[in-house]
Amino acid sequence: MIGRLNHVAIVVPDMAAAAALYRDTLGANVSEMLDQPDHGVTTVFIELPNTKIELLHPLGEGSPIQAFLDKNPSGGMHHVCYEVDDIIEARDRIVADGARVIGSGEPRIGAHGKPVLFLHPKDFCGTLVEIEQA
Ligand code: CO
Repeated sequence: MIGRLNHVAIVVPDMAAAAALYRDTLGANVSEMLDQPDHGVTTVFIELPNTKIELLHPLGEGSPIQAFLDKNPSGGMHHVCYEVDDIIEARDRIVADGARVIGSGEPRIGAHGKPVLFLHPKDFCGTLVEIEQA
């Protein structure tokens, strides 16, 4: 059911330093910083030949990644995102199989303007999983 790895998201304590690390030390193609107030994050996208890395830093009060950064002050891997063809069909199969979708279960428009859902890390090998209808 799942398709391509769309991105791996990494929460970072210092966005400018993280962007410079990927650009200069790792020689990657790094986007400009983008504030996404609707999502409570600032993002930098790193284009790799086969997938993307998404650097995330909290933006504003009540950012959904603030607690993660508090627990992991030097940053860390936050989630992986897999593409699916039909997010409703994917959700129904996941729920029918006994795994948990976070929140209301209704897809939200994610940071790339596409419908997404997050799956409970306790049901997915300790890893927060995002599915995106590509
Ligand atoms: Co994501």
